[in-house]
Amino acid sequence: MSDRKTHWEDVYRGKAAHELAWFQPRAGISLDLIAAAGIPNAAVIDMGAGASRLVDDLVAAGFVDVTVVDIAEAALAQARARLGERAERINWITADATEVELPRQYDIWHDRAVFHFLMEDADREAYLERLGRFLKVGGQAIIAAFAPDGPDKCSGLPVRQYDEQTLAAILGPNYTLIETRREMHSTPAGIEQAFVYCRFEKRA
Ligand SMILES: C[S@@+](CC[C@H](N)C(=O)[O-])C[C@H]1O[C@@H](n2cnc3c(N)ncnc32)[C@H](O)[C@@H]1O
Repeated sequence: MSDRKTHWEDVYRGKAAHELAWFQPRAGISLDLIAAAGIPNAAVIDMGAGASRLVDDLVAAGFVDVTVVDIAEAALAQARARLGERAERINWITADATEVELPRQYDIWHDRAVFHFLMEDADREAYLERLGRFLKVGGQAIIAAFAPDGPDKCSGLPVRQYDEQTLAAILGPNYTLIETRREMHSTPAGIEQAFVYCRFEKRA
């Protein structure tokens, strides 16, 4: 098992999802941005979803083509258990975002607080190569990362902070930035963390 996978499996085996710093009872900005994408019957993939409740709200909102990916099987197990029989409507994939091979393309690629953990050029390139391959032309990428005034560590790991310019630059010329939102996330311990959310359209 890679060090990265061991780390995240241990995190989700050690704590319940609602105790983790990134827990949100409702992924409100993500839901708003997915709705704003305005793609009918969108196939949505949540990359590095962990045990996020975004999937619950997508199902409740009528999305019927939802794929959830995370490196930690323990995270997906928590989400599946929470969803009960609704879990059968979701495609669950345990994989590393820098290595995953997906069977098809998607209309919306969502990532909250996953890309920002990629500190090595090779990992960022592998992730972005997959984004390019598995997101449809005309599809939208919604990426949320710690902002420049946010933390520089999460879960004991270093992260890279981004703003809309640095995210747009790293995604490159095939993506048009459509919308940016900021969030002051409050952790379960009451600590504030600044996030930036960017919604891009893939044009080529
Ligand atoms: C800070 S949490 C965010 C979880 C979720 N996106 C949310 O907003 O609640 C980061 C998540 O990314 C997952 N992760 C970290 N590195 C990953 C990688 N290389 N590939 C896939 N998932 C990864 C972790 O297991 C964890 O669930």
